[in-house]
Amino acid sequence: MANDKIVLAYSGGLDTSVAVPWLKEQYGADVITLTIDLGMVDLESIRERAMQVGAAKALTVDGKETLVNEFLFPALQAGAIYEEQYPLATALGRPLIARYLVEAARSEGAYAVAHGCTGKGNDQVRIDVGVAALAPELKVIAPIRDWGMSREDEIEYGQARNLPINASRSRFSVDENLWGRSAEAGELEDPWLEPPEDAYDWTVPVGSAPDEPTYLEIRFEEGLPTALDGESMNGVDLIRHLNALAGQHGVGRVDHVENRLVGIKSREVYETPAAVTLHSAHKALETLTLSKDQARLKAQISQQYADMVYNGLWFTHHRLDMDAYIRSTQRYVTGDVRVRLHKGVCTVVGRTAPQALYNYSLATYDREDQFDHSAAAGFIDIFGLPVRTQNQAQG
Ligand code: ARG
Repeated sequence: MANDKIVLAYSGGLDTSVAVPWLKEQYGADVITLTIDLGMVDLESIRERAMQVGAAKALTVDGKETLVNEFLFPALQAGAIYEEQYPLATALGRPLIARYLVEAARSEGAYAVAHGCTGKGNDQVRIDVGVAALAPELKVIAPIRDWGMSREDEIEYGQARNLPINASRSRFSVDENLWGRSAEAGELEDPWLEPPEDAYDWTVPVGSAPDEPTYLEIRFEEGLPTALDGESMNGVDLIRHLNALAGQHGVGRVDHVENRLVGIKSREVYETPAAVTLHSAHKALETLTLSKDQARLKAQISQQYADMVYNGLWFTHHRLDMDAYIRSTQRYVTGDVRVRLHKGVCTVVGRTAPQALYNYSLATYDREDQFDHSAAAGFIDIFGLPVRTQNQAQG
């Protein structure tokens, strides 16, 4: 066959390592692995492993900046939190993985891309739909979804082919990128059980968090965080810094039973210190800078935006339209927010914005008060008119 290359999204774990010989055997193809750094991986050691398990070529890409600027920050501006709990770390990483797979397939001249998702989760949808949107001509193969091997089968299969696989694994299924860590499966499948401490990795338990709070000032420019305590930082550094700092205070643990796109409910444990901190600070700044009507509509769009991301619909015109609206809402979301990180909680304790709608002389009860109290009685008379009318007519 002339075109016999497949690009496989490769994490270095058991599933995708076994997938390399499996794809070669099933499809008679060369397997080119692609490992993407979205914040948490050691590209070089995974590249070596890929060659050891039989990749024809092992590609790597540093996707951190792109992830932050094109996916995480727009989602932050949108206030996108799925079911009011999950800041969508995994869900925001998947469309970028799909995009890199497509780019690699095109530059390598591959006819198919492959990934290690199971048939039960959201991630398969996000990658398959993402690839289909960007390159409808590419075939998508999901070996783990197709091969019907148990974990033991995979280990046997790998051993029979002398793969240097490391079968030790965490008790949970974990996915990580800069925006957070997702853990599922194992004991977490019993929603009545408190998550065991080893389900967590980025955050300390509240009991061992420092007694002293940390105060931190976050600067936003048009809805994007640009500095911490007055020090300008690029997005990747800022998020890293916040993950460490808020994580030390036990901030960012989320224990959530969520509604998957494939129709089942699943119990997920997330650690997302930077995202939790940034979302609360960003929202606080919007309370100063958006009108009531703007805030009401934006809250509805936020929910739609979160569903869109969760459901793998990133590469759609619907997303572009929502982005245009969101961008427009951020014109005056510039200012500083002070947060207190303490014992697992991020609390906004101060906010200021040069173009705030908050007006001291209207809000104050002191002598500087400029609110026209005498106008209130007439306003209430008209405002209450339909209430009086209805009660008079209908009791
Ligand atoms: N439930 C989350 C989502 O759908 C996280 C999935 C994490 N994936 C994993 N392999 N642990 O976005």
